[in-house]
Amino acid sequence: MAISKNHQTAAPKIVVLGGINMDLIGVTPRLPAQGETVIGERFYTTPGGKGANQAVAAAKLGASVKMVGRVGADAFGPTMLDDLRRHGIDVGGVAVDPHNPSGIAIILLDADRQNHIVAIYGANTACDGAQLEAVKAALDGADALMLQLEIPADVSLAAAEHAKALGVRVVWDPAPALDLPDGALALAEVLTPNQTEAAFFTGVEVTDAGSAKAAAEALLAQGVKVATVKMGEQGVYYASQTESGHVPAFGVEVTDTVAAGDAFGAGLCVALAEGKSLVESVRFGAAAGALAVTRPGAQEAMPARHEVEKLLDSS
Ligand code: RIB
Repeated sequence: MAISKNHQTAAPKIVVLGGINMDLIGVTPRLPAQGETVIGERFYTTPGGKGANQAVAAAKLGASVKMVGRVGADAFGPTMLDDLRRHGIDVGGVAVDPHNPSGIAIILLDADRQNHIVAIYGANTACDGAQLEAVKAALDGADALMLQLEIPADVSLAAAEHAKALGVRVVWDPAPALDLPDGALALAEVLTPNQTEAAFFTGVEVTDAGSAKAAAEALLAQGVKVATVKMGEQGVYYASQTESGHVPAFGVEVTDTVAAGDAFGAGLCVALAEGKSLVESVRFGAAAGALAVTRPGAQEAMPARHEVEKLLDSS
């Protein structure tokens, strides 16, 4: 089945339901062994969370974005909301939770600047029917719903069902991977796992383009219309029922890999909503992801549209 296409000139309207975290990022020459202390190189705090990162990336790429989720009533909550507002995102669907702390992620970047994340989701885990109602209201007239797995899966699944019934494309980053009810992935028009997540949902260990193809085909067999398997410096493999291929990674200097996958997903979603072809959309997403790894942080690393277009033009 072919992916649905939009042909529009107005800014795509994207609703993001998902995690909003404060990221506490440490750069270290190596990861400590048990009981060992390693002296790190640098520490910084940056607004993150897979949902919020995707929201900011989509907004910087030209979309009109509504964010739905939960933050705590602590010091991090208002900071994260202000950051989303600063990027022009409608945060009317984000609740401030008086009972739970804001979600946070403790992130270590190793010598290769690859990330190792422990997330403590706090208020994100309290997303419930109120967020579902906020999503339903926001989906009126929307082009796409972006989901991840940092809030309770039942809320995401109910939102996906509602979007699907309305004919709104669901772009789902199944991260972090966790057990889902049978058939759940079929709610995704576009599924964007990384290698680890693709292996979790298919049983296929993804090490290269060949194994990514096998994993993507296994996801299509589960009812996904388009599967893109993100492989970092090995690029992205994509497949639908009618087309498939491998988009190599753009050659860039790696500073910080945090949120590169979120940049990819947002770029892919924006480009599809604009009516670009699947391969063009995957390249657009891959360029956004590549630029995100050249800078420190999560949301602040997201590229502007003109930067993505420049990278695409020069490649
Ligand atoms: O995808 C990157 C994000 O994962 C980080 O911003 C962190 O908050 C974790 O949720």
